[in-house]
Amino acid sequence: MRTIAHISDLHFGRADPAIVAALAHDLKESAPDLVAVSGDLTQRARRREFAAARDFLQGLGLPVLAVPGNHDIPLFDVARRLLQPLDRYHRYIHAEDNPFYVDDEMAVLGLNTARRTTFGDGRLSLSQIAVVRERFERLPPALAKILVTHHPFLPAPAGPRQALVGRGLLGLQACEVCGVDVLLTGHLHRGFTGDVRSHHVAIKRAILVFQAGTAVSTRLRGEANSYNLILLDPPRLSCTVHAWDRHGFRPLAPTRFLNTGGEWQRQE
Ligand SMILES: [Fe+2]
Ligand SMILES: [Fe+2]
Repeated sequence: MRTIAHISDLHFGRADPAIVAALAHDLKESAPDLVAVSGDLTQRARRREFAAARDFLQGLGLPVLAVPGNHDIPLFDVARRLLQPLDRYHRYIHAEDNPFYVDDEMAVLGLNTARRTTFGDGRLSLSQIAVVRERFERLPPALAKILVTHHPFLPAPAGPRQALVGRGLLGLQACEVCGVDVLLTGHLHRGFTGDVRSHHVAIKRAILVFQAGTAVSTRLRGEANSYNLILLDPPRLSCTVHAWDRHGFRPLAPTRFLNTGGEWQRQE
């Protein structure tokens, strides 16, 4: 059994200190096996914002796997944006753009989808799609395989349509071949659960999407701050959204899935 806390869009620089403290408290108490951070750790990629994000993550005392988001690349400092887009991210958060965590029950790969040449949108490179295959292809089928990116593969069920990650279908085809079970994504500041087949009809096997809202930032888009707690207990898997209600994060009803014959089925 494994647990993953999926947090996203922290936006230090625009984070609410009370919510930051509550999230730290929750995560220390639930002590997940891994904290997966799906990007936008900062608001404007400033040094002090990265330092706050680093202090928050290090203060948890838990294993962390993070990927950058579009906000983690400087916006107005054009020279830095073009020449050293992820320099501060590498210095403060992770030296690697595409981190990998594996134990005897799960494998988690993060891919950086933020690009210096696009402002909000993101994409996968062909070499990153090759990394998906390299990392996941030879792992035992019983291991849960999870991919973390900032930009989404699936549109939000409600709300304005936003661009999905570029080369998303190519990435999903690699995920399908390699038996990836779950995608953890952010960027939309909206939380929802889905199956990529609802949008990508070329994909024939269930790949679940757990989209996290913004955990602690004041950049809300019509819904409360939230994070996801994911429980991997083969053949079962569940995702519980913890939503902020002004006094603390409260768990909502979990979304449960059962794996039968290699297919994830949603349980009511
Ligand atoms: Fe964001
Ligand atoms: Fe973003």
